[in-house]
Amino acid sequence: MSVAAALSALLGDRCSTDPESMAGYLEDERGLYKGSAACLVFPESTAEVAAVVRLCAEHRCAVVPQGGNTGYCGGATPAGEDQVLLNLSRMTRIRALDPVGMTVTAEAGVILANLHQAVEAEELFFPLSMGSEGSCQLGGNLATNAGGLAVLKYGMAGELVLGLEVVLPDGSVLNTLKPLRKDNTGYHLQQLFLGAEGTLGVITAAVLKLFPRPTEFQTAWLAVRDISAACELLPLARRSSGDCVTSFEYISGNSLALLGRHVDGLRPPLAGEHHVLLELSGALPPESLRPQLEKLLEQALETGLASDAVVAESLDQRQGLWALRENIPEAEKRAGRSIKHDVSVPIADIPAYCEAAPQRLAALEPLRLSVYGHIGDGNLHYNVLAPEGADPVAFKAEKGEAISRVVHDLAADMGGSFSAEHGIGQLKTGELARHSDPATLELMHTLKAAIDPAGRMNPGKLLD
Ligand code: FAD
Ligand code: MLT
Ligand code: ZN
Repeated sequence: MSVAAALSALLGDRCSTDPESMAGYLEDERGLYKGSAACLVFPESTAEVAAVVRLCAEHRCAVVPQGGNTGYCGGATPAGEDQVLLNLSRMTRIRALDPVGMTVTAEAGVILANLHQAVEAEELFFPLSMGSEGSCQLGGNLATNAGGLAVLKYGMAGELVLGLEVVLPDGSVLNTLKPLRKDNTGYHLQQLFLGAEGTLGVITAAVLKLFPRPTEFQTAWLAVRDISAACELLPLARRSSGDCVTSFEYISGNSLALLGRHVDGLRPPLAGEHHVLLELSGALPPESLRPQLEKLLEQALETGLASDAVVAESLDQRQGLWALRENIPEAEKRAGRSIKHDVSVPIADIPAYCEAAPQRLAALEPLRLSVYGHIGDGNLHYNVLAPEGADPVAFKAEKGEAISRVVHDLAADMGGSFSAEHGIGQLKTGELARHSDPATLELMHTLKAAIDPAGRMNPGKLLD
């Protein structure tokens, strides 16, 4: 019996081999990879995931876990008829919500925005937030250790995890689902699976930290002198607000120009080449943060760090400012394929990075830059597009690799990372091998071989 037949016997119509129904799941978000698989399965419980993994092992088939398929590195795209695509979207239960300990136990397939809603009903808050939150899933967020828009205050996805349930490559289940803040009982095994991109096991559920729901958000858009002024503003904002800065995003004029051209109805409130979107939040008496924000803006204007600023006066205005930031990836997509980068350097070195990068890229011109990102976390999306009017596919084919090398190498030369938040997937395996020191790479291979000796979990991803 084929693996597809065995899985159909297990899951009925939740196992599909129909090319038309599978098509959308076999291609990645950016259209970089078109894959294939023996079948696509939708288990509904941890026991079913374990049974699928065991059946795959019996048939010597690989398992490719998939969440919302919004990842940027092709990590969830299967690559052959000897692979089974295991989609978690039917595992959507909130298993427990503890308003006293402020924790939630949720299954991997819960869409991030739905998780937000579920905990908000209890006046609680799960802070992980990103442009894809309407479709990405908790399991995918944890498997990629996603970053997003509130890392500055709350940390990356992995920092919000207290425990995990993971189906291991042999079909056994690792369960550390305890809602405990403190638990030093040996190795913190769950850490291995956060950022492992499905190469060590299938995450089926997690216990997550929650926070009191902020009662106040103060959101401002500033036109700043340059990126160096943006970086100077960050510690001022953190100090003057009692460290209530939740988000601190940089947006270049080039990125806003793309937005203006390709996404209707989105116009920045201020002119200029360099912008900061800043948000303070807290669970405090209403309007507590407003005076701090106003003082900060006054200081920024007086010292010349900023030339102008606007503050959101309503929820609509706040959402309008965030829409400008969150739609930049969509604008780039519509402008043609961008060569995406996701680098980090120490925050104080961001201006030097932005000065050096165009010089190092000069030999590869003509090109267009779209630079923006989470500079409060030292993380820049230093994206490169084909020059106006040129064919983006041909441009990427001709220069993509060389451009990425320059952007990545500069980050590495400055003590930074070539991959700050999007992960490695199948896109950056070569770069991981190139940039990791031998001891790190060897230990990664040793761990992979110990947990997945047959190499059946998401082969070809993360480690080549
Ligand atoms: P998928 O794309 O389905 O999978 C991603 C990886 O995780 C794959 O390797 C897959 O095999 C593995 N995986 C998925 N589910 C599981 C599981 N249950 N167990 C084990 N492995 C699993 N990312 C950021 O970090 N920050 C951002 O600000 C950000 N903004 C984005 C904005 C837009 C508009 C888009 C389209 C994407 C953005 N992303 C961002 C990238 C992406 O959304 C995130 O990486 C997200 O966490 C991926 O979740 P997913 O459910 O779509 O995972
Ligand atoms: C974002 O921050 O919007 C994404 O992580 C970056 C991107 O889409 O390039
Ligand atoms: Zn990002």
